[in-house]
Amino acid sequence: MYFQWYPGHMTKAKRMMQENIKLIDLVIELVDARVPISSRNPDIDELGKHKARLILLNKSDLAEDKWNDAWAEYFKEKGYSVMKVNSKKGGGIKSIQGVIQEACKEKIERDRRRGILNRPVRAMVVGIPNVGKSTFINALAGKACAKTGNKPGVTKGKQWIRLNKNVELLDTPGILWPKFEDQTVGLRLAFIGSIKDEILNTEELGAGLIQFLLQHYPEVLSNKYDVQEKEDVYICLREIAENRHCIVRGNELDLEKAARLLLDDFRNGRLGKITLEFPQDSI
Ligand code: G4P
Repeated sequence: MYFQWYPGHMTKAKRMMQENIKLIDLVIELVDARVPISSRNPDIDELGKHKARLILLNKSDLAEDKWNDAWAEYFKEKGYSVMKVNSKKGGGIKSIQGVIQEACKEKIERDRRRGILNRPVRAMVVGIPNVGKSTFINALAGKACAKTGNKPGVTKGKQWIRLNKNVELLDTPGILWPKFEDQTVGLRLAFIGSIKDEILNTEELGAGLIQFLLQHYPEVLSNKYDVQEKEDVYICLREIAENRHCIVRGNELDLEKAARLLLDDFRNGRLGKITLEFPQDSI
């Protein structure tokens, strides 16, 4: 799912979020573990103030483990509850219930003091497009979940998924808009495939990824594509095209095809676990 964002979309998304956030106790915010800052929108801090907060480093299977741990620490220090998850394979999903209780312990305690017992925590999943919200909700709710208030013709209101007697989840996630006014953010979101490729120059994007890899993961290009060049980005791209036989019109190198191949391999984890941004750059 991809949105071409216009101011109108943002206003609508924000309004929806403001409405829904009133109904909940806990904001479950998904970020992409490869780009935990670029895949956030800090507006959620204002929208979600006074709510319990849980940040999930999703797609943690695609990012480097030591950086997943460093990012978890980074967010914990800022006062969020944090967990690494792999929604696609279900990794970490079993522990979520406990983490939700922990994240909401102040609210549960407040309820208890007021004599309110067993009122379930109400939660909502939020995040930018493509971060894995639907995959996560499906992984968490599974097939056995009971939807509350979804009798046809009876309820027009919000749909809640009852996860157990302690937790209810709003069944539609909140969509946050990316911060694309920042170029670095836009580039990183494009690397992970959250910005439609058609509106970008594939060759430039591939070149940008090569530049990052040469700097931070120098062995990846030589291991995967037998690239010998260590500095010049376009020579690297040409070597990938040569070694992978990306050719047009008889014998010309097809650099666009090579760039697409690289981007696809990266996005699907075929280059290994790669983190694109690091906590020390974000303090
Ligand atoms: P959204 O609701 O936030 O827009 O995201 P959605 O769940 O549609 O997920 C977007 C893509 O990310 C999907 O891939 C999904 O499978 C993948 N994904 C979600 N969570 C994880 C995860 O933890 N690890 C990995 N590796 N991938 C994850 P897709 O290409 O759209 O579909 P498909 O490849 O699953 O067929």
